[in-house]
Amino acid sequence: MILPPYKIKVVEKINLIPREEREKRIREVGYNLFFLQSQDIYIDLLTDSGTGAMSDNQWAGIMLGDESYAGSINFKHLEEAVKSIMGFKYVLPTHQGRGAEHVLDEILVKPCQVVPGNMHFDTTKAHIINVRGRAIDCVIEEAYQPDTEHPFKGNIDISKLEGFINKDPENIAYVLITATCNSGGGQPVSLENIRQVHEVTKKNNIALFMDAARFAENAFFIKEREAGYKDKSIQEIVKEMMSHMDGCTMSAKKDAINNIGGFIAINDKKLYDKLAHKTVLFEGFITYGGMSGRDMEALARGLFEGIEEDYLRYRIGQVRYVGEKLSNAGIPIMKPFGGHAVFINGKGFLPHIKQENFPSQTLCIECYIEGGVRGVEVGTILAGRDQNTGKNIYPRLDLMRLAIPRRVYCSEHLDYVCEIVVNAYKRREKIKGFEFDYESPTLRHFLSTFKRLKN
Ligand SMILES: Cc1ncc(COP(=O)(O)O)c(C=O)c1O
Repeated sequence: MILPPYKIKVVEKINLIPREEREKRIREVGYNLFFLQSQDIYIDLLTDSGTGAMSDNQWAGIMLGDESYAGSINFKHLEEAVKSIMGFKYVLPTHQGRGAEHVLDEILVKPCQVVPGNMHFDTTKAHIINVRGRAIDCVIEEAYQPDTEHPFKGNIDISKLEGFINKDPENIAYVLITATCNSGGGQPVSLENIRQVHEVTKKNNIALFMDAARFAENAFFIKEREAGYKDKSIQEIVKEMMSHMDGCTMSAKKDAINNIGGFIAINDKKLYDKLAHKTVLFEGFITYGGMSGRDMEALARGLFEGIEEDYLRYRIGQVRYVGEKLSNAGIPIMKPFGGHAVFINGKGFLPHIKQENFPSQTLCIECYIEGGVRGVEVGTILAGRDQNTGKNIYPRLDLMRLAIPRRVYCSEHLDYVCEIVVNAYKRREKIKGFEFDYESPTLRHFLSTFKRLKN
């Protein structure tokens, strides 16, 4: 048993409303789980982003917020934390991860340029497209095989990457490694792969960045799974990961266990000066970037807490606990389990529902009806339509994600979640799929509504 490295000091009441009420509420919001009121949800596994529980130490930091427009001491603390943990020289705060992506891509990506990566997260991809660039996924083939056990499914396929680069090296804006790889199921990237990617980018004079939202969880997997790292500290592994990077973007809502925030960290002063201009324009002055002083203080403290090994062992252990329980009950899930979430294969769970009728979204709806548990679809609805043909994109992985917030739920909550999923599984053959009632032209997983198929 992995023991929790904390105890509970503050609690928040949650309610399980009756089943008939749940059926009514989800129908009323057009079967879009984003439109539900949080009071109507019992266990919320929609996301691990910004939903973590801050520590007493972080809350104490909140009281020390220096809300000066410029030169806040909390920014100094944030800068010191990033320098000491990641080793970068310059830090630009942003309101959250996508703010960092916006600023970086405005400077680094020219129209028609390509940004290859393992698998870009959706906001990352959208920001590259926003400046008329192209985001290309070069993850290894195993990443698309839900049942294949591979310790580092977030790795970049080096020959695919070289293939793109060799076509036209001048046309590559930069290369991005997302660690862990959220879109691929929270799967880690090995240090060997990071080194190999770096060799390729260095040879071709291309900048290498990390989307570091879950950098600490990635480091934990390296310690656990990669030869030669068992006796290294998380801090040492993080430093080594980052030593291969020109910089990183960070959503502080994940591994910094903050409710909001983000930053860009880099080594190059000239690039820093360019990015600083855009930061002031889009985010705020370079010593707050859209965050309050108190948020920066909590973030600085959260960064240190996020790399504590006992915390990471318990956190990743919770994800594994849910994964193993579901897997033992015969539920088809992605393997190995990722760092922040368990991904259920919607097509495997509901094989009688065609992909055009959204099996993973159907599963999310059923888990809400069954027990007030909210997950999220990472499948056909999220994938959207092809920009050129207008046709639906049918992703190879059509999944329901159960993201585990950091330091929020106990084993009883997680046991309950597993029970609900298993109950839905037992009556799977009777479950019917959905079609659009309203299809939003953009960001359709957030804004569309659905109706249930009659037959
Ligand atoms: C890998 C990754 N990158 C970037 C982002 C965007 O960060 P934010 O939500 O803070 O804008 C996310 C958010 O979920 C993410 O998972």
